[in-house]
Amino acid sequence: MALVIRVGPAREKWWQEHMQSLLPEIDCRLWDDPGNPDDIEIAVVWKPPAGGLKCFPNLRAIVSIGAGIDHVLADPELPKHVPIIRTTGEDLKIRMREYVVLHVLRLHRRLPEIESAQERREWLQLVNPPAYERRVGLMGLGDLGADCAKALAALGFDVAGWSRRPKMIDGVKSFAGQEAQNGLSAFLNRTEILVCLLPLTPATAGILNAELFSRLPKGASIINAARGGHLVDDDLLEALGTGQIGSATLDVFHNEPLSADHSFWDHPKVLVTPHVASLIDPVAGGKAIAANIRRFLEGEPVPDLVDLEQGY
Ligand code: NAP
Ligand code: GLV
Repeated sequence: MALVIRVGPAREKWWQEHMQSLLPEIDCRLWDDPGNPDDIEIAVVWKPPAGGLKCFPNLRAIVSIGAGIDHVLADPELPKHVPIIRTTGEDLKIRMREYVVLHVLRLHRRLPEIESAQERREWLQLVNPPAYERRVGLMGLGDLGADCAKALAALGFDVAGWSRRPKMIDGVKSFAGQEAQNGLSAFLNRTEILVCLLPLTPATAGILNAELFSRLPKGASIINAARGGHLVDDDLLEALGTGQIGSATLDVFHNEPLSADHSFWDHPKVLVTPHVASLIDPVAGGKAIAANIRRFLEGEPVPDLVDLEQGY
């Protein structure tokens, strides 16, 4: 039996060699050289091209090299009967936690202002409120959002989270759904630094838009480490212009790599990072993927199997 791997060219050989060492009983092939398509039973993919997966008639599982599966569901010709397994794990959480804590602290301690003061050789002593007076809000309290919320709460921030269903997390106020008291509006009204860690689904696409920005306190910051499709770019540029949004830290974009002429690159209130918040590497990610494939092939429960009804 064979498995096919589709990742960007920079790391594909590393992935192939590593997966082959973890799954010696399976022939691990690359997407561009899959051999007989009938042999392929598992596809391990990041952003597979539209119509690509349906070319493997004996496909039994699609493994997303990522926690999100939107890049797989985006294929209009996706073979819908094939189960999808996402990739989670401690390394993914650790990296996202580092990214979110780094950028929340950067904004909380107004580092961009200090850096630009340094350029002017200005001694700028800012007095910041202590963390317990800074209200941080996480959209999405799943594997990654809940972990980041706990880390921020441990640093003393006033942390809240918004999810579909209410959560019980020590030190984190829970808001859910759209209801007036404990729903999205109440969550946004209190949030000075907003972190998006939602999956991209029809319900969340374009959620970071002008109407949502207007419900945040004036000058709030946003950190989008989820997907570019959550953000309406023009609405953000407008809100940065009026000062409704004070700054944006963006890791993900509608089109990646972000095109060289996009106005985000040199916007003074935008920090662009190149989808590096939490990359899955072949060592830790490969181990998680190989374990999931083994469980799947042996008919054991696979916790990372995606509930396709739910859509994430
Ligand atoms: P997850 O475990 O599936 O959690 C998703 C969370 O979002 C859950 O709390 C869920 O609510 C909530 N949610 C989903 N739809 C919602 C809606 N319509 N309204 C309110 N809340 C909603 O996902 P995860 O593993 O934490 O990952 C989140 C996303 O991060 C991924 O999908 C991916 O796009 C992104 N990501 C980015 C990077 C990067 O490097 N930038 C790396 C990894 C992942 P319930 O708990 O009520 O179900
Ligand atoms: C990365 O973006 C992921 O979904 O894991």
